[in-house]
Amino acid sequence: MKKLILLIMFCVFLTGCLKKENTLVLVTEAGFAPYEYYENNEVVGIDIDIAREIAKSLDKELVIKDIAFDSIINELNSGKADFALAGMSITEERKEEVDFSVEYAESKQVIIALKNSKIKSQSDLNNKTIAVQLGSVADIYVSEDIKSAKVIRQKKFLTASEDIKSKKADCLIMDLLPATELVKNNPELTILDVELFTDKYAVAVAKGNDDLLIQINKVITKLIDGDQINEFTLNHTK
Ligand code: ARG
Repeated sequence: MKKLILLIMFCVFLTGCLKKENTLVLVTEAGFAPYEYYENNEVVGIDIDIAREIAKSLDKELVIKDIAFDSIINELNSGKADFALAGMSITEERKEEVDFSVEYAESKQVIIALKNSKIKSQSDLNNKTIAVQLGSVADIYVSEDIKSAKVIRQKKFLTASEDIKSKKADCLIMDLLPATELVKNNPELTILDVELFTDKYAVAVAKGNDDLLIQINKVITKLIDGDQINEFTLNHTK
């Protein structure tokens, strides 16, 4: 009897291990439509479509972890997640901490403000209160390049957009496509006609995870060649 129980326990343990082996854990921050957002309690978006293709190509079940954007790199490096798709821009600093795939999208950083905003150029950002997502490239840009500005660092873009509406912040700096989605749902806000800088998105994995990276690059190259990333983008920006 004792032996039987032990055997059953061992089998349960084994199934647990196998299940883990057969999953691929994605880490993201799902407040970033159209790349990752909630629909009917489920995380969907362009990045999720790409992640599903990667998991499918490896014959693995995709597990999605939604965490704070500034914790994503740590999650990869501590081995708690296999890969990150989070509209993450390639930067030299991040390249020292993670490995990036080939790029799959181009973006630019834009300014969102109330429709009557007086900000007309980059230099008008001096001495302003600027909302950003904590740990984003906009956070780094404002912190390093606009020293006279007061920075409000939020975990969620939704909270940052509330800061503009309540006039706690003069503007919000973020990526163009997510900014476009945000403005669609907030008619009092607008994207200003001011160019800041461009950036490129890639998938991130822990440093040295070459096997996974090679596979990810294959999938992304195939998706780009088949025009599927544009298709995913159209689907999520309707
Ligand atoms: N592209 C910007 C960056 O890499 C912002 C990304 C924010 N992504 C997100 N899922 N919240 O810093």
